[in-house]
Amino acid sequence: MLELEQVTAGYGETVVLRDVSLSVPDSKVVALLGPNGAGKTTTLRTASGLITPMAGRVVLHGEDVTGMKPYALARRGVCHLPEGHGIFPSLSVKENIVLHSPKGKEKESVEKAGDQFPVLAARLGQQAGSLSGGEQQMLALVRAYLTDPRIVIVDEASLGLSPLLVDQVFEALAQVVARGTSLLLVEQYVTRALELADTVYLMNRGQIVFSGRASDLRGEDVFERYLGIDVTS
Ligand SMILES: Nc1ncnc2c1ncn2[C@@H]1O[C@H](COP(=O)(O)OP(=O)(O)OP(=O)(O)O)[C@@H](O)[C@H]1O
Ligand SMILES: [Mg+2]
Repeated sequence: MLELEQVTAGYGETVVLRDVSLSVPDSKVVALLGPNGAGKTTTLRTASGLITPMAGRVVLHGEDVTGMKPYALARRGVCHLPEGHGIFPSLSVKENIVLHSPKGKEKESVEKAGDQFPVLAARLGQQAGSLSGGEQQMLALVRAYLTDPRIVIVDEASLGLSPLLVDQVFEALAQVVARGTSLLLVEQYVTRALELADTVYLMNRGQIVFSGRASDLRGEDVFERYLGIDVTS
């Protein structure tokens, strides 16, 4: 279980998040939704240790991890797939995969990744930075497979992808979830996020404005009722 408790956080002097509390139970999927600039990415960065809160706590499996570095959280099973993929663009696809492979299992890892994402198997020697956006996202998701984390934090995994690739990304996420990994995701495809999620938090202007069961919400409710945005206009 990962929890943010009454977190205030931002950049330098600028406060972006105010009194944000949310929890991601073991083996559950939590979607964090909201308009551009709401503070979603900032929340994820705080959850994975990239930002240290000005106030409040980050608690992982009962341990206070506030202020811990991202690598310390990664070692405790937190895998953050950032906006913009977080791959190494100057390395090849294969080298990127090997970097996230358990020691001694490099060959197996490359095969496993290739089986899951055939598009990568065909491009092992290609520079990762020259992959298409969708292919780069696939490569990013390989990390969530190979490192077997306890929680995966995903920021806009489907950003800029064609519908077919969006399907593949959600399929990949569903498989990660099926292994019992919990997931905290920010997603622009609200309906898809609601399908996958158990719990939804809506954020606006740096605050949580609603939380509830995903099955109680429809896509249009999210924007109209809770964020005051009319989707019909
Ligand atoms: N490095 C930074 N320095 C200063 N302000 C920042 C920084 N990164 C983000 N912000 C500000 O923090 C606020 C929240 O940004 P954040 O990226 O968390 O929003 P978001 O909900 O992820 O938006 P989007 O849907 O557009 O990705 C915005 O007003 C943004 O301008
Ligand atoms: Mg963002």
